[in-house]
Amino acid sequence: MDTRDIVNNLLLQRGGKPLPERVNYIKVEPHDKQKLFLGLDNVREALFGGATGGGKTIALLADALKFVHHKDYSALLLRRNFPDLKQEGGLIDVAHGWLSKTDAKWNEQDKQWNFPSGASLRFGFLDVEVDKYRYQGGEYQYIGFDEVTQFTESAYRYLFSRLRKKASLNVPLRMRAATNPGGVGGAWVYERFIPEDFSPLRAGEMKVWYKTLENGATTAFVPSLLDDNPSLDKEAYLESLMELDEITREQYLKGDWLIQVRGDILYTYSEAHSVISWTQFANIFGEREIPAHWQVQVMQDWGTTPDHPCITSWFATAGRNAPVINGVPLSECVFLYRGLMLTQCTAADVAKEMIQLMKHKGEISRCTSWRMSHEASSERMEYHQQGLPFTNWKTGKTRGIEQLKNAFSLRYTDKPHPFKPTLYGTPRLFLIVDDQELTYPRTDAGLARWRAEIPAYHTKVPKTGEVAVKWEPYPLFNDAVDTMREAAAEYFPSSADLTKAEKLLEKMPDMFKTEELDEHAKVAKLMWLQREAQEQERPKEERFPLW
Ligand SMILES: Nc1ncnc2c1ncn2[C@@H]1O[C@H](COP(=O)(O)OP(=O)(O)OP(=O)(O)O)[C@@H](O)[C@H]1O
Ligand SMILES: [Mg+2]
Repeated sequence: MDTRDIVNNLLLQRGGKPLPERVNYIKVEPHDKQKLFLGLDNVREALFGGATGGGKTIALLADALKFVHHKDYSALLLRRNFPDLKQEGGLIDVAHGWLSKTDAKWNEQDKQWNFPSGASLRFGFLDVEVDKYRYQGGEYQYIGFDEVTQFTESAYRYLFSRLRKKASLNVPLRMRAATNPGGVGGAWVYERFIPEDFSPLRAGEMKVWYKTLENGATTAFVPSLLDDNPSLDKEAYLESLMELDEITREQYLKGDWLIQVRGDILYTYSEAHSVISWTQFANIFGEREIPAHWQVQVMQDWGTTPDHPCITSWFATAGRNAPVINGVPLSECVFLYRGLMLTQCTAADVAKEMIQLMKHKGEISRCTSWRMSHEASSERMEYHQQGLPFTNWKTGKTRGIEQLKNAFSLRYTDKPHPFKPTLYGTPRLFLIVDDQELTYPRTDAGLARWRAEIPAYHTKVPKTGEVAVKWEPYPLFNDAVDTMREAAAEYFPSSADLTKAEKLLEKMPDMFKTEELDEHAKVAKLMWLQREAQEQERPKEERFPLW
């Protein structure tokens, strides 16, 4: 029961009229995760963070307005700079929508709403370090940072000096923040709020995560997900998010704090050496497609959601007749020549798309190995129905990693790269991409997801005090790498065998290989070819060496 209820009870007992209904300044009904965040009055410091669109900004504003019925209550809401604060859908804009038709009054000069109770809600920014002194002398019981990872830690900590109240004011002191992962302040925000046992895979739980800091203070963290906000048109928003680069998209969609731009596992990978364009491929192999006699292999990590998409990778290994360029043999080189990433799909959808892509040059029958993630048994059955003979791959968190690392490592480092002669050293595994996406990958044609995952692939960090019994990779943002691990574990498709003509040429004595043969030698060569051809026709066990 708050003071108002006590006063009302007294008034009613004495036959008086109760106080007029309180104005409701919060114009939305908070969603469940927002309620969890709004219920943390007994915690001084709390973060509403994670995936984008979860209703964090709205919650921050609602939280600020909770005590404006109290005389002299002051709240401050901050963004890094003023344009961010003023933008459409930003804090000032939403607050105007909520408050302009109430008894609260806007003061443009101070960027502040004043309430009849005497309370106030001010909006401010803190762009450069000296801006923090704008708030010198102020006294607030609520300070909210929107997109807190854009702020420096020192600016955030400085404002604790402004968090105070007169003894007579009966409201809690609250420091609040909202943000997506990443940004310049990603590291300090992570250190301050995200406990070690939190994983983005558990972000959907209706749970507050607490962390004790070195100084003994406790912070609270409520993870937010797009799914927590039913008010948003999710489909349309997901489509917009597809415009982002892969790493940012992971941070915004999953609220993944531990994703890295530079990982520590596939350190042998060099984007410059491994990624080539179809034109560079055609310069050597003569065509902008995989030659028809090369063996191919399809690997698929099954999934359906944006968090865990369905990723299919196609590999081909150069035939034994592949040329030697500047001393670097290309036979046995492996090419990841096509990638398909789909979300919100059924196995039938994926099968249809795959069949379409593999129609050309009988790829389906040339494919020597079809593997997919082991958990997808019903999808596998669907594929069998459609004529795609997938089998499951073996599990293992580290399976294929060594082989993949080897495939990326540079060989022939004293010789020019066959596709990019200005570079030295050649890997065994190449990714072939559309010419337009060689520099800036955006879609599957540029193998964007693959090229973001490979360098980001990193070790799972054990919790403090936990003995890492087994070395393991971090379990998210690994779907494309998983398909590559599996291909590598199988040592990729075998190199295609030589054609009959090539076999003859390989066997032919060197003296017949020159064009300038005299008449005798020409006859001898013809006889050799005839006898060799007859020999090829005979059953293997009857053959004998001719030369
Ligand atoms: N409880 C609610 N009731 C109705 N609409 C809501 C509610 N919470 C949020 N919304 C609406 O959902 C949209 C996203 O909310 P908001 O801007 O708070 O998300 P956010 O998590 O801050 O997003 P971002 O990560 O992009 O900053 C906005 O249009 C907002 O008005
Ligand atoms: Mg926001």
